[in-house]
Amino acid sequence: MGIDIRKIDEIIESYDKSEESLLAILQDFQHTFRYVPEEGMKRVSEILGIPESKIYGVGTFYKALSLKPVGRHTCKVCTGTACHLKGAHTLTDIIGRELDIEPGETTKDGRFTLQTVNCVGACALAPVVMVDDEDYYEGSSPQDVLKNLRKYK
Ligand code: FES
Repeated sequence: MGIDIRKIDEIIESYDKSEESLLAILQDFQHTFRYVPEEGMKRVSEILGIPESKIYGVGTFYKALSLKPVGRHTCKVCTGTACHLKGAHTLTDIIGRELDIEPGETTKDGRFTLQTVNCVGACALAPVVMVDDEDYYEGSSPQDVLKNLRKYK
């Protein structure tokens, strides 16, 4: 996934050249690229004169910012106690194998990011898998989950 440096500069240029713009610029990167690219942090450092370590600190502090590329879709497998007892870890392995990634990673084609999360409050329906925080697949067999994932392009 190549990052367009001109777009990075355009974003930075649209803000005041002061340290106070830092968070807004990083949020704009997140919104535009779905993550905060390293090239972006470098350019912010050069243009605003802020040390890279400080920018990195802000990037890792805010949960809404991701320093790694995130896929078009996010697949979250609940690994809370109830889901764990219903095979969440096996499910995570099976999904990871299908997508060829480990939890926390994104597929090469940028289609999916796989994550494991704590209890999402639907224990009676375990195991729970969520896609894009809006589609819930509950109590499904691994085969059903895989079938559903194939719908996302
Ligand atoms: S443990 Fe998964 S929903 Fe509660």
